[in-house]
Amino acid sequence: MRMGVDYYPEHWDRSMWEKDAKLMQDTGVSLIRVAEFAWSRLEPTEGCYDFTWLDDAIDTFAKHAIQVVIGTPTCTPPNWLVHEYPDVLPRDAQLHPHYPGVRGHRCYNSLSMRHYSTLIVEKLALHYAANPAVVGWQIDNEFGLHECNCDHCNSRFRDWLQNKYGSIEAVNSEWGTVVWSGEYSNWSQITTPLGGTKHKNPSYLLDYKRFETDSVVEFQQLQLNILKKHCPNHFVTHNIWSYPMSLDYYKLCENLDFVSLDYYPSTSPEKDVSSGYSGALTLDLTRGIKRQNFWIMETISGPPGCWMPMWRTPHPGFIRAFAWQCIARGADTLVHFRWRSAPSGAEQFWHGLIDHSNVPGRRFEEYRGLCQEVQKLAPLLERTKVQSEAVILHSHDQFNAFQMQPQVEGMDYFDNIKTIHRAFTKLGIMTDVLSENEDLSGYKLIVAPSLFLLDPELASRLEECVKNGATLVLMPRTGVKNQNNICWIRPLPGPLSDAAGVTVAEYDPIGRDVHTIRWQNKSYSCSQWCDILSPQSAEPVAWYEDDFFAGQTAATVHALGEGKVYYLGTIPEEAFYVDFFKEAAEESGLHLFPGLPEGVQISLRANESTRYLFLMNLTRKPQTVQLDGIYRSIFNDCDMDQVLTMEPYAIEIVELPQKNV
Ligand code: GLA
Ligand code: ZN
Repeated sequence: MRMGVDYYPEHWDRSMWEKDAKLMQDTGVSLIRVAEFAWSRLEPTEGCYDFTWLDDAIDTFAKHAIQVVIGTPTCTPPNWLVHEYPDVLPRDAQLHPHYPGVRGHRCYNSLSMRHYSTLIVEKLALHYAANPAVVGWQIDNEFGLHECNCDHCNSRFRDWLQNKYGSIEAVNSEWGTVVWSGEYSNWSQITTPLGGTKHKNPSYLLDYKRFETDSVVEFQQLQLNILKKHCPNHFVTHNIWSYPMSLDYYKLCENLDFVSLDYYPSTSPEKDVSSGYSGALTLDLTRGIKRQNFWIMETISGPPGCWMPMWRTPHPGFIRAFAWQCIARGADTLVHFRWRSAPSGAEQFWHGLIDHSNVPGRRFEEYRGLCQEVQKLAPLLERTKVQSEAVILHSHDQFNAFQMQPQVEGMDYFDNIKTIHRAFTKLGIMTDVLSENEDLSGYKLIVAPSLFLLDPELASRLEECVKNGATLVLMPRTGVKNQNNICWIRPLPGPLSDAAGVTVAEYDPIGRDVHTIRWQNKSYSCSQWCDILSPQSAEPVAWYEDDFFAGQTAATVHALGEGKVYYLGTIPEEAFYVDFFKEAAEESGLHLFPGLPEGVQISLRANESTRYLFLMNLTRKPQTVQLDGIYRSIFNDCDMDQVLTMEPYAIEIVELPQKNV
């Protein structure tokens, strides 16, 4: 567990390196990430590589016991490359090039891009393989999808389809192209989604998204192969941006050693409470991508700006508290973005730990304290893992399918997951967030928000979990389609109807209208969607109170094997989730931390013998937490009051024996 910073030696006069390195060492920084945008300095003209400046920088920092992660520079093709080989540039749906000027102006399928990327990564790998200060690599920077329509992408898309379907007839039938005379009689008729309308065949669009992810994965794999070949002792990672995102991070990270996340919680006072909750989801989701601890490769150090007018500066305690939130939820190393604000370029006002003044100030002092705390606690937290008993399923394909076919005004797949996850966080229930493709055995409670695309294989895996004792919670828009985005011709929830013991007789997409349901003699509001349920072997547990379906079933429960399946036919308000999941969690014997005030979160990291409970006030207000016993604060080495007052952004960590809660 260590602290690092993102550092750009090429942005600073060499005379500053030594001072920066010394200050880093004195502060407790032991790692820098460098070079991920420095292609024009590493290869100023075609084939002329110059790594001497980077060697000198690395040596300077190594003398101060600072190790180095090198970013491959392929996010920023230099001007000579773009100028000589314009096929590097992606083309939008109107076939206009994405010109250089910022970053990311590269088509992942461009042959020139692949060729020159391979060359520079190989040179770097060979050059730094034996440098003792270099510990690992970040490939590229924050991959995303371009929806490129260049010739390379078109021909590779056709190859991809041939590989997946084998014949043009299979494409026609799996996509249902018969509608609106969309049938193909020759491969050459298939193109990437060019301009015109976005209301194209959803099966085609979903496959195009999958193809795009595969293009990024392939581009990354070229670099990964080189790095693994020449630098077998180095780790290789990539820094993802947070979900929601149309690139499939699960596939992207499959072959990496670990996931790294760039995490920028909002500093806005209006988001005082909400940013901690959405951050908790982002961190849980990141941990779930490879089901292991992760790194933070960038995080907030000052007021962000430049992509938008500047946000508020991090309130005193904010930088420290959100750093601990990352560790609490599974981060093993934190790299802050960035050491010092850039003097030039488009990102001058995305502030670093040190301002342009070059005088370390309040934020820097807070960071210094954080480094010291992390150093002190690292030996305890090393090799601990987050412990969860509940899981929320998150699917990249479901997200894309909903993005291309919004079901109703106000219904957003990821926002709905946020509300569910927030309810769990408020209840103090540790929750994993996993892809539906993962093995889910062992979880007591599985929440599956809108399994829009549902094949019988996933349905039977979920059914098995229930039979073995899990409680499964299903939601509206489940079992609508198969994996090719074609509707099932059977009652909803399609392949899960039997397990749920219920079918949907009719539905009303109520959108932003607000209705109510009655559950356990209490009314709760709901919106977006109402499935009017027809229980088969399931029991009704909630009823609609409005409209022509007043009195009809809104939710059911179905006992199955050792477990049970709830079907919620609507999207309820958060208060419902809090009450409902509390009851479901208690029934399933999950651990809760009741009575947490708004914005105060807990987390648990554990090894075989000890568990560490984190209590975090991620708000600008003091808060009071009722503890169920006398605990000893690790920070202050003293017993804490049972009615614990937490100052704004206060963090407490306590040690619990294993299996005590
Ligand atoms: C991303 C990028 C960084 C930087 C920050 C701030 O996370 O990876 O290079 O641009 O955003 O905008
Ligand atoms: Zn392309």
